[in-house]
Amino acid sequence: MRTDRTFTMLKPDAVEKGHIGAILEKINASGFRIVAMKLTHMTTNDAKAFYAVHSERPFYGELVEYMTRGPIVAAILEKENAVEDFRTLIGATNPADAAEGTIRKMYAASIGENAVHGSDSDENAAIESAFHFSGREMF
Ligand code: CMP
Repeated sequence: MRTDRTFTMLKPDAVEKGHIGAILEKINASGFRIVAMKLTHMTTNDAKAFYAVHSERPFYGELVEYMTRGPIVAAILEKENAVEDFRTLIGATNPADAAEGTIRKMYAASIGENAVHGSDSDENAAIESAFHFSGREMF
């Protein structure tokens, strides 16, 4: 399996606030190459399936509602050590704990509405990429 790719979503709050351009600029400036990208709107079933691992968590319903309330930008990013480096770039899940200069520190409002997703492992990066993109959409 490739170890130089990760999957990201710019979540509905980031899109609503007009932060797509600024966040992509930061991603590019940090050395990631965009392999695949689309503006898309997840259905309730999409979001339930994507976050199935969290289905027993108390915030699952809220998470599904948030992720389906508007369009997202889904993308696959390539860089050496992509998963770990991207998680460093976005910062902690809770923006209150995120380091200065990270995407979540700059653009996220709360632990629930945290602006951006980054895969937590190479295995999940591959699963999440395949959820949103076919092989013909990766370049
Ligand atoms: P992410 O890590 O991208 O994927 C799981 C998401 O669940 C996380 O971002 C948040 O959007 C959300 N989440 C995680 N923890 C909480 C929480 N304690 N309360 C509400 N939402 C959460």
